[in-house]
Amino acid sequence: MISPRLTSSVALVEAVALALAAVAFAVDIPRTWEKAALDTLELPLANREFSPIHIDETAYYRIPERVIYKSYPVYAPGREPAGYMERLKTVEPEVAFDPSVLSTQQQWVSAGEIVFNAPTSFHPLFFTAQDLQDPTFFKKTGMPVAKDGTIPFARWVVRRKGVVELGSMGCATCHTRVLKDGTVVPGGQGNNPNDYEGALLLQALAKVIGSEKMLEQVHRFAREFELPWLPDDLNRLAGSMSLDQLIGAGEAIPPGVTARANTSILLPPQIPDLIGIRERRFLDHTGLVRHRNIGDLMRYVSLAQDVFSADRYGSVTNVNSAPPGARYSDNQLYALALYLYSLRPPPNPNHFDASAARGRLLFEKLECARCHTPPLYTNNKLVPVEGFEFPAGRADIVSAQIGLDPRYTLDTHKGTGYYKVPSLKGVWYRGPFGHNGSAATLEDWFDPARLDSGYVPTGFKGYDGKTRSIPGHPFGLQLSPSEREDLIAFLKTL
Ligand code: HEC
Ligand code: HEC
Repeated sequence: MISPRLTSSVALVEAVALALAAVAFAVDIPRTWEKAALDTLELPLANREFSPIHIDETAYYRIPERVIYKSYPVYAPGREPAGYMERLKTVEPEVAFDPSVLSTQQQWVSAGEIVFNAPTSFHPLFFTAQDLQDPTFFKKTGMPVAKDGTIPFARWVVRRKGVVELGSMGCATCHTRVLKDGTVVPGGQGNNPNDYEGALLLQALAKVIGSEKMLEQVHRFAREFELPWLPDDLNRLAGSMSLDQLIGAGEAIPPGVTARANTSILLPPQIPDLIGIRERRFLDHTGLVRHRNIGDLMRYVSLAQDVFSADRYGSVTNVNSAPPGARYSDNQLYALALYLYSLRPPPNPNHFDASAARGRLLFEKLECARCHTPPLYTNNKLVPVEGFEFPAGRADIVSAQIGLDPRYTLDTHKGTGYYKVPSLKGVWYRGPFGHNGSAATLEDWFDPARLDSGYVPTGFKGYDGKTRSIPGHPFGLQLSPSEREDLIAFLKTL
């Protein structure tokens, strides 16, 4: 037993540590756009000479900083407190991010949460304000609602008194998961059905502006995904697809997968879980961006959210290239990165029982830890795909090819020729699985039938809605049904 004296001295040490953390938080904010750091931030693309070239430091710091206004929760139909919208119409606009009042680490983290939730767009991309007040929209899309009746993917914002705007496209729109019981997991693999909603919005807009005009706009938009230097670029197909086909492509993308900037509506990626990001050495499924320190995470976020729009690719300028309208300030990015580092998984309801214990033995026997090495359950390395010549003898590359579908990493603007070994922590609240979320569940990921060309993927279907195999990653496919159950029981405890 621990003596009372010892516990009190432990308590004292903890109290001192807490007090120190409260006062002595040394804010050391890296400069986001710094040439030396940027020069080595990214891996070259598989087509080296078309690797992205970003705007320079001067141009970067000329982009106006984003002003983050106070925002308010959006409620599902029937869940709004009485008089809520009337009250919002009377509140004064308030700037919600003010670095001059931040001193403790906790205050910086809380300010980062504000940045995480802050909308960056007030144009409807997936849903309109009317949609979120319409019960049939929720029935149709399955948009999840939190326990307290809120919708964490969108916020009401007051930028001018009397005008309440619906905003979205902050980090929370894609990186928030609502569990079945309504628990909100900030940073979890998002599960708003973004692209399905986007497809419905296209249909509705086509009725207003006419199908022809709509198709013209979608074709123009889709051109930004093209890689003109690839002779057989799949993305070019979007330019000849009909409106119905493009809507079908959007509808085929399930919650947890989304056609982010620099990816593609035909080749969308799985939304990664951000919980545990601090330990990840590479960012993106293709490992495009190095994560050497907090400054790199700030660089990643600024690029992915805003600055990509001005990128050039070798000698090629993207057809939709435009100077970014706004960027996050270095302070905002720093707070946001601290918040991401602070994210923790929800309490795991799965206990380590006899089945999980057998599953752990299988995990060892099958040598999953070669790549999914405990305690992170990733070795933080990249696996090259077939058809891509990769440099030999590099410590951060697994010298094995595992037959994964190479298209996402060869035929998008993030394509390095590699896939990252993902961590298996938190798989119990994640899904769909694989870099493009083709397998809805772990059961499907370990189902050998997924290798057949006649397979119908249970997650991302594929843009043409036909049957398709989910190739590669043959590990754990030879198990008996009860062994598979045990392996999955173990994985769900991580
Ligand atoms: C429209 C949806 C969307 C929005 C908005 C969004 N993300 Fe993402 N994010 C994604 C997708 C999809 C990926 C995966 C891209 C890939 O792997 O190629 C991703 C990847 C990431 C990664 C890399 C994680 C990893 O493990 O590889 C980080 C970090 C990240 N996002 C942070 C943010 C932050 C912070 C914001 C807000 C400023 C944000 N994202 C806004 C969809 C989104
Ligand atoms: C040679 C390296 C390697 C080995 C060995 C390996 N994996 Fe993987 N694993 C990967 C890579 C790479 C991915 C990402 C696949 C993708 O991007 O589509 C992955 C993905 C997964 C996923 C999906 C995770 C997600 O978030 O989508 C699970 C689950 C998984 N592996 C479990 C296992 C298990 C269990 C074993 C052993 C039976 C194993 N892996 C063996 C490299 C490996």
